[in-house]
Amino acid sequence: MAAYEYETHDYDVVVVGAGGAGLRATLGMAEQGLRTACVTKVFPTRSHTVAAQGGIAASLSNMGPDHWQWHMYDTVKGSDWLGDTDAMEYLAREAPKAVYELEHYGVPFSRTEEGKIYQRPFGGHTTEFGEGPPVQRTCAAADRTGHAILHTLYGQSLKNNAEFYIEYFAIDLVMSDDGVCQGVVCWKLDDGTFHVFNAKMVVLATGGYGRAYFSCTSAHTCTGDGGGMVARAGLALEDMEFVQFHPTGIYGSGCLITEGARGEGGYLTNSEGERFMERYAPQYKDLAPRDYVSRSMTMEIREGRGVGAEGDHIHLNLSHLPAEALAERLPGISESAKIFAGVDVTKEPIPVLPTVHYNMGGIPTNYWGEVINPTKKDPNAVVPGLMAVGEAGCASVHGANRLGSNSLIDLVVFGRAAAIRAGKVVDADTANPDLNQPSVDKAFDRFDGLRHAKGNVPTAELRLEMQKTMQADAAVFRTSKTLAEGVEKMTAIAGKLDDLKVTDTSLVWNSDLMETLELTNLMPNAMATIVSAEARKESRGAHAHEDFTTRDDKNWRKHTIAHVDGPKVTLSYRDVIKDPLTTEKEGGISLKKIAPKARTF
Ligand code: FUM
Repeated sequence: MAAYEYETHDYDVVVVGAGGAGLRATLGMAEQGLRTACVTKVFPTRSHTVAAQGGIAASLSNMGPDHWQWHMYDTVKGSDWLGDTDAMEYLAREAPKAVYELEHYGVPFSRTEEGKIYQRPFGGHTTEFGEGPPVQRTCAAADRTGHAILHTLYGQSLKNNAEFYIEYFAIDLVMSDDGVCQGVVCWKLDDGTFHVFNAKMVVLATGGYGRAYFSCTSAHTCTGDGGGMVARAGLALEDMEFVQFHPTGIYGSGCLITEGARGEGGYLTNSEGERFMERYAPQYKDLAPRDYVSRSMTMEIREGRGVGAEGDHIHLNLSHLPAEALAERLPGISESAKIFAGVDVTKEPIPVLPTVHYNMGGIPTNYWGEVINPTKKDPNAVVPGLMAVGEAGCASVHGANRLGSNSLIDLVVFGRAAAIRAGKVVDADTANPDLNQPSVDKAFDRFDGLRHAKGNVPTAELRLEMQKTMQADAAVFRTSKTLAEGVEKMTAIAGKLDDLKVTDTSLVWNSDLMETLELTNLMPNAMATIVSAEARKESRGAHAHEDFTTRDDKNWRKHTIAHVDGPKVTLSYRDVIKDPLTTEKEGGISLKKIAPKARTF
């Protein structure tokens, strides 16, 4: 057994991660007087939410008529009928409240002439239950909405006495023998000390795992740490085959160009200068949902109508928009286009390509953020003491495809929901039970094993192998052949985790070791993704299977549940929740309205 000294910290709640969801949960917990710690591997305002550009969806009706039921309908259709209906209702209903709270906390939203929060169109957001024109539902702070939200929530959390443990890396969860989460074991990166957090509730807000792929819009820190810890605790991951490609990553660098660019009037063209989205989505064109647009772009490239010397990308045009509008509404992406593509957006198109952007799947939860461990007997069984929110979690509100700007609203609605729930289930007056020592020891043993790993494969080499395989074999379009090959290759790659070589054994700012820990988190996420994708014999949302080209509701309207143990993935399935929270009589949406149908735009 590895002997590491550590300090123990006692809290009511420990939140792991300080992005939008983590900070909203932290703030909500602290506001209620719960003793709350937020543990984060990067400085809070450097969390990946800072990169969120276009905005946050809520039916405020500031720019024209809108209703939460229309937002819910769009989310259901966007999800390709794989989202859980209760969670989607909760999201759409609570969204306006959550945005006004942000406004009152101090988020500097862009404004209309009358001083209301400015809202722009985004893909898949419509009026009249998908029958009317696009709606302006996405509330924006220019094209730096995530930045504005993150700074505000951090300030408010400090004001409410939340305590921050910054640049602490979470190694593993502490679980009791009877399956209660008791805390988390952490490594402090800047001084090499160890800290064990004992809490009545652990909230995983660790973000997505975009870095399992070679080209993504996600920060290098997006390594699925929550999913990795959950998998090692023997718990499940849900719907991991659904990986979103954002249509407009900058060609080459993968940097995000917000969908807000198309919301403000930008459009895509092929090598013939054609606005090809008019053919694929006659009603909503460039404002169709992301899975639709990414597939259309890929088909144009495949059929020889890509732009550039190699015909391998697409143009995003903004130069017809007034320069003042670009400066006011899209200053951030104008700068990114200049830096990363050498393009002046007032004069030239931006070269873009569908790029991995978001994970619809994650740690399964109910709409209060409580982690569930679905069993045959109880598909909704809650794991006591454990929550997951934001991209790390799967409520499941996005199903098979997320609508743009439904991510920021997911972060704040479900971060807030987790706090409301914790206020009910956490008893601040009782002492925390003693930690399960064997579980703590196990975390240190794993850490020590990696620290002294003396195999043959450097971490960076194995990571690259994983990223290239995922990029090639779990892409925008998938076939039985690519998926089967992907499973075979990824199984071999995951097996090499036992042959890792770590050269630096120091404990202070050891990026070799930290990246190794991150790789051990990315790998179970990647394995669950490729195996779940190989098993799903239909096309739905972001899972576009060329050998099974249609959606098959009879056999596949169900969530994939993956248990990962090393290179081995065991799959089971769980029913989609089809009932909304409220009936039509109670003011809810009619079941007829949200019944599955062909998904066209
Ligand atoms: O395009 C964007 O601004 C990204 C938004 C989102 O992923 O929700």
